[in-house]
Amino acid sequence: VARIALVGGTGGLGKALCLAWCKDNQVVIGSRRLEKAQETLNAVKQRMRELGLSDYSSNISASTNSEAIKNSSLIVLTLPHDVDEKFILELAPYIQPGSVVVSPVSPFTLQGGSFQSIFRFKGGLPISFAEWVRDLLGTERVVSTLQTFPASRFYREGTINCDIPVAGDDHDAVHTTMEYLSQISGVRPIYVGPLSVSLQLELMTPLLLNVERFSRIRSPAIKLV
Ligand SMILES: NC(=O)c1ccc[n+]([C@@H]2O[C@H](COP(=O)([O-])OP(=O)(O)OC[C@H]3O[C@@H](n4cnc5c(N)ncnc54)[C@H](OP(=O)(O)O)[C@@H]3O)[C@@H](O)[C@H]2O)c1
Repeated sequence: VARIALVGGTGGLGKALCLAWCKDNQVVIGSRRLEKAQETLNAVKQRMRELGLSDYSSNISASTNSEAIKNSSLIVLTLPHDVDEKFILELAPYIQPGSVVVSPVSPFTLQGGSFQSIFRFKGGLPISFAEWVRDLLGTERVVSTLQTFPASRFYREGTINCDIPVAGDDHDAVHTTMEYLSQISGVRPIYVGPLSVSLQLELMTPLLLNVERFSRIRSPAIKLV
């Protein structure tokens, strides 16, 4: 059974991914504080009971971020975009060489009534959060995906019929990530190119939030036809 670490797994995306992956994997909710991870674990177990998934509750656990990462083959950074460089660098020693690091992060803010992207720059050009993480961790096994996953809706309903774009440079890391995404009820992963495409994926989260805000479509997701 594979082990998946959710770094900062105590937020909305982490909780949804616990439900998404608990049937087929060991999922570890990571936090800066063990007690907070344990509280989240209890909340997710309650939701699993409501969704008829209690048979799998022994597959999820709580720990500190560094403990979660050790021995995990998939490490998902369910973190806010303004996380410190130091925080990412301190994760590095715990990541096993063959592990895949997934970035679902989108940098955006609410500005003047609409959601707007925020950019980081490298050599005068904007770079994605995922590329920034790759540069800090010094691994090519970073995969960008899940920016368009409607976490709150998945947490409510336990399934979602949508497509999830995936970008990454390492063929094996992309393949592995797509296998995990395929396990999520209703999700079809779609490969969209190298990690440099991540900037385009990260722009999609504020777009979907604007769809929700201005066209009142609740928790919108995308389907490519
Ligand atoms: N929510 C969604 O629907 C959704 C969907 C797709 C993608 N995303 C992306 O996924 C990421 C996570 O989303 P979320 O809504 O779960 O985020 P969140 O609730 O804002 O944050 C997740 C966790 O990150 C940890 N954290 C907060 N500040 C930190 C810091 N300065 N340093 C280290 N850890 C910190 C906290 O955990 P502890 O306090 O327990 O350490 C927090 O519970 C975001 O970048 C978002 O854009 C979200």
